[in-house]
Amino acid sequence: MQLEPVNAANQKIALVPTMGALHPGHVSLIKAAQQIADFVVCSVFVNPTQFTDPKDLEKYPRPVEHDIRMLEEAGCDLVFMPSVTEMYPQQEQWHIDLGSAEFLLEGAYRKGHYQGVTQIVKKLFDAVQPHKALFGQKDYQQVLMIQNMVQYFNLPIEIVTCPIIREQDGLAMSSRNIHLSAADREHALVLSKALDFVKTNFEQQSVQALEAQASAMIRETPGVELDYFTIVDGTTLEPQEDKQAKNLVALVAAKVGHTRLIDNMLLS
Ligand code: PAJ
Repeated sequence: MQLEPVNAANQKIALVPTMGALHPGHVSLIKAAQQIADFVVCSVFVNPTQFTDPKDLEKYPRPVEHDIRMLEEAGCDLVFMPSVTEMYPQQEQWHIDLGSAEFLLEGAYRKGHYQGVTQIVKKLFDAVQPHKALFGQKDYQQVLMIQNMVQYFNLPIEIVTCPIIREQDGLAMSSRNIHLSAADREHALVLSKALDFVKTNFEQQSVQALEAQASAMIRETPGVELDYFTIVDGTTLEPQEDKQAKNLVALVAAKVGHTRLIDNMLLS
């Protein structure tokens, strides 16, 4: 990799790991990285070990030229686009202790997902050796798991979390949104609407009542199959009904048409 001169010049490197199919949410991470580092690397790699459904892996969008153009326009300094054999030269058994939150929420629906995510992020960290790495709050549990992995290996890398970038109507941007039909796209709005509802009514109602109403809003929407809508402690991801508690977050996951979407909102 062409990082020797950067390191020789004592420049600070920031890494933005992605799976490509880039959208303005990804670009916001590149822009944030440029504010806090001298040299920004973006990795584009569709990581097979984090997919639980082979069909999902197969249909994951890979618009390579579009991605390179977007990264050039964003002023990214280096794009790292390894092949699968480069990242996984041999079969590897990987298991590290990510704490009990690994098995909650997304971890319960996608068995082994966070072992796959932390495995590839560790490999990307080893390859690039960044000082900082930036991730989106969009994948709330993912950031927690990566922070736990960094602690587990005692890595000298600062993890920076960036806000969720949304479409004008509130839908959280995602590479998977392109799979939504026009009707799905309309129905998918209920996720951010339910989160907004909870945020707006947070002071007036109990956690239980908020969860019940938000869940009902989603269940009543045609074409939407709710996996969970839950208000939890933002660190343990355990249910938290005490609104005085700091660090509460509402997390939602649902299938809209054939596409599974996640979203979240910080409440306190
Ligand atoms: P990917 O889904 O491509 O996302 C790359 C990064 O962009 C993640 O940190 C994600 O949280 C962030 N992101 C996605 N949508 C966003 C939005 N609407 N606003 C702000 N940030 C957003 O997450 C992954 O890839 C992979 O699991 C990865 C970490 C690269 C490991 O393979």
